[in-house]
Amino acid sequence: MAETERKYPKTAVICNRKSVESTENASDSEAEFDSPETIEAIRQVLLRHGVPAVTIEADEDLAENLKQHKIEFAFNLAEGKYGRDREAQVPGILGLLNIPYMGSDATAMGISLDKDLCKRLAASFGIRVPKGVVIRPADDACEKTEDLTYPLILKPNAEGSGRGIFDRSIAEDPAELKRLLTSCFQVYDGDMLAEEYLPGREFTVGLLGNGPEVHVFRPMEVCYHEPTEDSYYVYSYRIKKDFRNYVHYECPAKIPAECEREMMAAAREVFLALGCRDVSRVDFRMNGAGEPCFLELNPLPGLAPDYSDYPMTAESEGYSYDDIVFAVYEAALKRTRGI
Ligand SMILES: Nc1ncnc2c1ncn2[C@@H]1O[C@H](COP(=O)(O)OP(=O)(O)O)[C@@H](O)[C@H]1O
Ligand SMILES: [Mg+2]
Repeated sequence: MAETERKYPKTAVICNRKSVESTENASDSEAEFDSPETIEAIRQVLLRHGVPAVTIEADEDLAENLKQHKIEFAFNLAEGKYGRDREAQVPGILGLLNIPYMGSDATAMGISLDKDLCKRLAASFGIRVPKGVVIRPADDACEKTEDLTYPLILKPNAEGSGRGIFDRSIAEDPAELKRLLTSCFQVYDGDMLAEEYLPGREFTVGLLGNGPEVHVFRPMEVCYHEPTEDSYYVYSYRIKKDFRNYVHYECPAKIPAECEREMMAAAREVFLALGCRDVSRVDFRMNGAGEPCFLELNPLPGLAPDYSDYPMTAESEGYSYDDIVFAVYEAALKRTRGI
């Protein structure tokens, strides 16, 4: 096709591909990476719409490969491998090369991956968040948590996809917290976040688009069939991997209109405050009084066909998998072309 006739830019789907070993074994070290099937499903959507799309791995040769393939636009899926800034690295490289791309910039990626920082930002907008503290290896955990009410949930402060969250990541007293912390610090780099355990229902809200016109999908509930351990309900790595046996999803969630409005407004507010772009998903959980609390914002939500939460939230509004992936792409194209 002649250059002048081409409607879409040459596009790279940039990803961290899950290895076969990690798909098959129980380790969560590649929890956030995408499966080869998901990456190919996204590329196929783009191809069906006439987008010249190739897949490029987010590794140390990324910049070189982008130049070699003469990439003009990117669909960024890369979660990154190293450090708290790992989700910001590919956006940073794309910015450096002046290649427009689908997804949030390095700043939004960096802040959102730090759960505590992101909660503080949300709280500054009057959004309800669970009380919590960051705990570092050298800290006295008892002292740090003395203002919190047990039970507490303990999670890595800068991970995602359930990584580092177990069915029993719950401490009922300081002694249990200390035991949990010791085992977590052996496995996960970085700080841990201890939060008051919210016993209520769980929801996620998808967003599509940009700026004040961003579209907020109605909340989807994660409905547990039974407690995941003891009397607790935790969307842990194990449950996320084997979700069909433990949860089902209801979208739109059956909740009072006021509660729905509050969650959608909160999701929109944090999305805009961080300057997120094109696509995001925000997780909530209710406290004991049935009020929704913000847990985290995911600017890189999973886009697996069949099981990722984000496409499911869009499905209830009539989007097929193909529709939602392409809508995300088009939102980015529209934003970067200024139309
Ligand atoms: N404060 C909390 N109270 C109760 N459950 C929580 C709390 N924080 C996290 N969880 C549970 O752990 C899951 C994963 O936590 P989240 O912060 O969303 O991390 P991830 O990035 O791994 O999805 C949540 O979906 C929820 O089930
Ligand atoms: Mg989550």
